Amino acid sequence: MKRLLFILGAWAVSAIASPSLLGRADKEQEEPAGSPGLMTVPDKFNTALGVDWNRTYGQTEPQQIHLSFGSDSKYARIQFATLSPIDQAVLKYWPKSRHVSTSSKKPVTHLRGESWTFTDGGALQRELYMHMIKTKNLKAATVYAYQVGATTCNGTEWGPELEFHTASKEDEFSFLSIGDMGVNNAVSMPHLVDFAKTHKYDFVTLSGDQAYDMADFNGIKGDEYMNMVQELFARVPYMGVPGNHERAYNFSHYINRYATLPHKESHFANPLMYSFDYKSLHLISFSTEIYFYGTPEEVQTAINWLEADLVEANKHRQQRPWIVLITHHPLYCSAPSEDCTSKAQLIRDGFNNTGFGALEPLLLKYNVDVVIAGHVHNYERTLPIAKGQVTSQSYHQPKSYMQVIVGNVGQPEGAESFNTTGPWADWSAKRYDGNGFSTVKVTSETFSMTHHQANHDGTLGSVIDSFTISK
Ligand SMILES: [Fe+2]
Repeated sequence: MKRLLFILGAWAVSAIASPSLLGRADKEQEEPAGSPGLMTVPDKFNTALGVDWNRTYGQTEPQQIHLSFGSDSKYARIQFATLSPIDQAVLKYWPKSRHVSTSSKKPVTHLRGESWTFTDGGALQRELYMHMIKTKNLKAATVYAYQVGATTCNGTEWGPELEFHTASKEDEFSFLSIGDMGVNNAVSMPHLVDFAKTHKYDFVTLSGDQAYDMADFNGIKGDEYMNMVQELFARVPYMGVPGNHERAYNFSHYINRYATLPHKESHFANPLMYSFDYKSLHLISFSTEIYFYGTPEEVQTAINWLEADLVEANKHRQQRPWIVLITHHPLYCSAPSEDCTSKAQLIRDGFNNTGFGALEPLLLKYNVDVVIAGHVHNYERTLPIAKGQVTSQSYHQPKSYMQVIVGNVGQPEGAESFNTTGPWADWSAKRYDGNGFSTVKVTSETFSMTHHQANHDGTLGSVIDSFTISK
């Protein structure tokens, strides 16, 4: 975020009502897409993972393995990459019993996948070969082991044996929630992998900004990042949202690397937006980057999609009472930057006082419960809020949504401090400017978040914050 040079032209701050200009208002001018950026180096956090994320891979060796869920983990999509074309992508998977370390390799399901070529937009026009396989219907409450393979005339080269689990049959479930992760200084990452291996967390949300940036060095940094996060996203399905650091070449790295996301089922054209259901939760991934990099038509399309999704979700509120929106840019924050003033206001209220693109009215109209944002590299929790005003001091049956920022998982720019010592807005209930990550526990009646401190000496610190919203 500190790399941004924010330019708000004088013409943009005037009241511009023309939709043809609205999309250009409040543009961010940043370093050119694909500029080299910071070099990646081994550090104590990415080496603690025990994975050679920057090693040389074979031309047809499966790498960058990760998965995402469809609703209620009824299926998963698993993706991997190779450096050269292959004849066929294959997947084999088999159920394992929970809490049993030895696997029974029968029955094994074999499936073939789809492949495509992703061309990075940099000077070298570097090509990467993407492969994705959708599982058949999965059984609930099951640990699955799996391997992806790349078949060529020389046979099939298999990736490592990995595993993930599907939803339990109980009402309660938990997931991990993070934002803003780099290859370097990924302070929380070793703890997240430890948590993932427990099979207690069903998926992970990531509120934007990864790798800093994937497009750097002709996309090689993206490869390194995806190999590093394989330790997490190959075990716990990735359910994230893009941030401004994914903007290069019209978000093509994000769109091609996270093709696993269930956007088609959500009736959106690409993985930048989607929603999915999971027990009592309806999770919506809404890209706030549309406000800064989209055309007016794209803003309108996104808002129309979101409203239609919210209308549909409210038809099933009895069955799925929780509606949670993950975004990158926050609607409210307390850091000393435009992110917390003009940009936050733009997202809340729309462009140039016209209301065009305004997000907050939709959150209020359709009774969204929680917004989980990133971008600002710290942790901040609001009280229930609407139009800048606290609506309740309690999270019991709150009158409006509340927001949590989890942009502090760890990245090369470091954690972000707050404004001196205040005074703080009365909606700002908790602030923490170190690194960490959140765990979320959901039941039909309660939505509980806990924020865990990750220390720079590599240890897991104390619980920084916890709260429960109840219906
Ligand atoms: Fe960001």
